[in-house]
Amino acid sequence: MKVIVFGASGMVGYGVLRECLVDPEVTQVLAVGRRPLGREHEKLTEAVVPDLTDLSTVDFTGYDACFFCLGVSSAGMSEADYRHITYDFTLAAGRKLAEVNPDATFTYVSGMGTDPNGRQMWSRVKGRTENDLLALPLHAYMFRPGYIQPMYGATSRTTLYRVLYKVLVPLYPLVKRIAPGAVTTTEQIGLAMLRVAKNGSPQKILDPRAINAL
Ligand SMILES: NC(=O)c1ccc[n+]([C@@H]2O[C@H](COP(=O)([O-])OP(=O)(O)OC[C@H]3O[C@@H](n4cnc5c(N)ncnc54)[C@H](OP(=O)(O)O)[C@@H]3O)[C@@H](O)[C@H]2O)c1
Repeated sequence: MKVIVFGASGMVGYGVLRECLVDPEVTQVLAVGRRPLGREHEKLTEAVVPDLTDLSTVDFTGYDACFFCLGVSSAGMSEADYRHITYDFTLAAGRKLAEVNPDATFTYVSGMGTDPNGRQMWSRVKGRTENDLLALPLHAYMFRPGYIQPMYGATSRTTLYRVLYKVLVPLYPLVKRIAPGAVTTTEQIGLAMLRVAKNGSPQKILDPRAINAL
């Protein structure tokens, strides 16, 4: 299986990339982002694209799945800027994959509470992103994690989250006991993405329980 990963320099994408690299059924991974990862692996190739709404220089031919883990926190962002990264980048990748391989799988990391009619700006933007991805001629799946435990050295690119994780990581067993339906790990997300790419899933929208079950 050949897969594409967006956002592999981030916390979720790092975890997803790791699972792809260790899975013997994955033969090739194309990491797409705005800067090089600085990593070497026999399965890994990279495409550095300065403007991720223009993927004309990247060849998606022959790939079976795209795991889209790129995203930002909406904190301090205007709706237009947040929509540009959240909606425009994601749909550019989804449309391109649908064009070259409508049998392919596309997984998108949105978040718990995503709702196209929600009160919060981020949840509406992610909700519309999800809906438009689900309407594409593709096998699209929406991953809606809540709290994510970083594994195997995965680190957030967002300073605020890095600080929060310093506090929360040791409390993970407790968080898991108090809110088992809201927690998952970068490893479980990666494994679940691979599972839906290989076998599909009856659920198109996956909360942390569904992610962990996969
Ligand atoms: N972390 C959580 O607990 C959590 C929970 C629920 C949902 N999520 C969602 O999961 C997704 C990934 O989160 P994360 O924690 O992995 O975030 P992260 O560690 O901050 O990583 C963000 C990724 O997106 C890329 N990116 C951000 N802005 C970009 C831009 N303007 N152009 C190109 N690439 C850009 C980053 O690339 P650079 O390295 O080039 O900056 C990086 O690869 C987000 O949509 C987030 O909302 C996260």
